[in-house]
Amino acid sequence: MAKPAPNQDVKPAVKIRRATEADWPRIMEVLEGANFHHIGGPEMPSFPLSDCFVADLEGVVIGVGGYRILDETTAKTTLLAVDPAYRGRNVGGALHQTRQDFLRDQGIKELYTNADDERVVEWYLRFFGYQRTGKVIPKVASFGRDDKDEWINLVAKL
Ligand SMILES: CC(C)(COP(=O)(O)OP(=O)(O)OC[C@H]1O[C@@H](n2cnc3c(N)ncnc32)[C@H](O)[C@@H]1OP(=O)(O)O)[C@@H](O)C(=O)NCCC(=O)NCCS
Repeated sequence: MAKPAPNQDVKPAVKIRRATEADWPRIMEVLEGANFHHIGGPEMPSFPLSDCFVADLEGVVIGVGGYRILDETTAKTTLLAVDPAYRGRNVGGALHQTRQDFLRDQGIKELYTNADDERVVEWYLRFFGYQRTGKVIPKVASFGRDDKDEWINLVAKL
């Protein structure tokens, strides 16, 4: 299906929903837009569809956000990416808020996130209650921004 024009106001029409197998090709395209498509590699051994949400604009996936539950009270986010043509319109914010609210409802108290972009870090700190843990995690393969060698580790107390 053709992608809707990026210059329209996407907000009212975007639905955040669970992913299905049929979404895989678009999910991979969206992940590729952030160099996050190396699923099966050392940075992201797997990305189960059961543990992610997608942003759907008129039947077209324009964003994806995943998570992994580590134990009864701890989880980490996995991948969050929005098609570059639709960034800056709260699609990423809606995806992250949905996964964070879901995890809180599951009893998760600590949510960890890694980001390699200082603007993304500031976004998590400003809007979603995150703090820096002070840890940085070296990348082991190309993933995300290739001009950044490490992940900045963040935590939100839900
Ligand atoms: C991070 C990301 C998902 C945000 O999606 P989005 O739909 O643009 O987010 P929102 O519209 O809800 O929020 C936009 C705000 O995020 C901030 N922001 C976060 N990352 C940014 C970036 N790389 N470039 C510009 N602004 C960014 C800005 O404050 C921006 O506000 P502004 O447009 O008024 O300047 C998207 O930029 C993306 O896919 N980035 C590449 C992958 C990535 O780094 N993912 C996060 C991994 S933890």
